[in-house]
Amino acid sequence: MTTIRVWQGDITQLEVDAIVNAANSSLLGGGGVDGAIHRAAGPELLACCRQLGGCPTGEARITPGFRLPARHVIHTVGPVWRGGDHGEADLLASCYRNSLRLAEENGLLGIAFPAISCGIYGYPHEAAARIAIAELHAARSAGSPLREMILVSFSADMAELYQRLLP
Ligand code: APR
Repeated sequence: MTTIRVWQGDITQLEVDAIVNAANSSLLGGGGVDGAIHRAAGPELLACCRQLGGCPTGEARITPGFRLPARHVIHTVGPVWRGGDHGEADLLASCYRNSLRLAEENGLLGIAFPAISCGIYGYPHEAAARIAIAELHAARSAGSPLREMILVSFSADMAELYQRLLP
């Protein structure tokens, strides 16, 4: 049975099979959680990402975690919030779905997600949280082999939001 839980803190410290990176389409690093993950993983991560040739919004790519406690990093590119009528909701849902699929295809048992698009990309937090929870529940209902799905919040209010919305 898959457990879905909320954890507040720095995702780079989690020792899980995979942490998800809220990247940009170049996959060449950035600020926010992308910057934190690259700093903690070390330069080999960037060298590895250079080989991937980027990633379209909504899709996901997997790399080793290098110096991170996490064995893998699943890089996904969330949508930039542009008001809500540019397919943002579907693209954000695809980020979660494609990241889960990659984890399952690689036989991983645990995955941790940051709040994709909820920082620099400006996605409204409650709408994003609802999408994240819906996708994790859908994967669990579909019999995902993943044992643990963690929603990581960097701030207390994001943690409270997740806890309020998780049934
Ligand atoms: N651990 C967990 N969560 C974090 C961490 C961290 N170390 N650092 C930031 N966050 C949280 C933010 O508080 C936010 O809730 O991750 C969420 C996503 O915010 P961003 O990192 O800004 O990502 P996003 O909004 O998807 O924007 C992506 O930012 O860093 C660049 O290269 C990245 O261009 C891309 C864009």
